[in-house]
Formats: sequence, C-alpha cells, structure tokens
Amino acid sequence: MIEETILIIKPHLLKKNFTGEIINILKRNNLNPIALKMIKLSKKKAKEFYEEHKEKTFFEEIVKNISNSPLIVICIQGENAIEKNRKIIGKTNPKEAEKKSIRNKYGESIEFNAVHGSDSKKSAKREIELFFKKNEFFLKLYI
Ligand code: CMP
Repeated sequence: MIEETILIIKPHLLKKNFTGEIINILKRNNLNPIALKMIKLSKKKAKEFYEEHKEKTFFEEIVKNISNSPLIVICIQGENAIEKNRKIIGKTNPKEAEKKSIRNKYGESIEFNAVHGSDSKKSAKREIELFFKKNEFFLKLYI
C-alpha cells in the first residue's frame, strides 16, 4: 500500500550538513519526498509534537533539543512507507540501532539520535497535519 509518513532531520544533524545524504538514503529506498521544509519550532509547537512523551522525565530536554535551532521536516511517500522509514532509521538508541541504519551511522546518543520518524499510521497522519498544509504538497503526481 502506498503511504505517506514523516522524517525529521533533527537540529544537531542539520548543523552537520548531512541533508543530502539522508535524502539519498530515502531515494535509494524508493521513499519519495513529496513536501519538505526547513523550520525552527517554537517551544509550543515542539511540546505539541512530543505530546505523547509529556509525562516522561526527558520531556523538557527533547523539547529543548528539537526547538533550539532549525530542522528539516520531510513528508515522504512510497510503498509501505511507514514501516520502511522506521526500518532504515533504526532503533531509538543509536548504540542499539542496526548496522547501516541512519541512527547507527549519524546518531550520537539517545538524545541526539539524528532523525525522527513517525512510528505508526496514526502518528504519521498527526505529524503530517502538524507540519504541512494541503497546499504545500507540490508533487501532485504522487498524491
Ligand atoms: P524521537 O524519535 O524524536 O522521539 C522521542 C525522542 O525522545 C527520541 O527520538 C529520543 O531522542 C528521545 N528519547 C527516547 N528515550 C529517551 C531516554 N530514555 N532518555 C532521553 N531521551 C530519550
């Protein structure tokens, strides 16, 4: 099934200029960017984004890390995109992430784990709607 999902290049990875590499990995896996933007999240938006973690001890820290400088958010589309995106990203902790996964290659620690990917159909829909308006999908061919 063709699906859409979200990949975020987190601020610390964006600063290192690895955007091209990440997009290449997506393309090699037939995950096509259909909308993309560079933005700096407000604290409010970051809290909304990480809402499901609001009771966790590390909530304030992840909110700070995701909002302290710009990030790139990409909506990608492809066959089985949600699961495929999660697989190429790898486990949350870069130390446990599969060899050659994005987090294994580019992650520094669990807090600075390079990228975020939507973890389910429900969160993909929520995150797409959080970051993109309907008229920001220019590659109409795909949708
Ligand atoms: P992300 O996919 O952005 O979703 C929530 C983030 O919380 C996660 O990546 C990690 O960066 C971070 N995170 C998850 N577990 C922990 C933890 N135990 N300690 C600190 N940060 C964590």
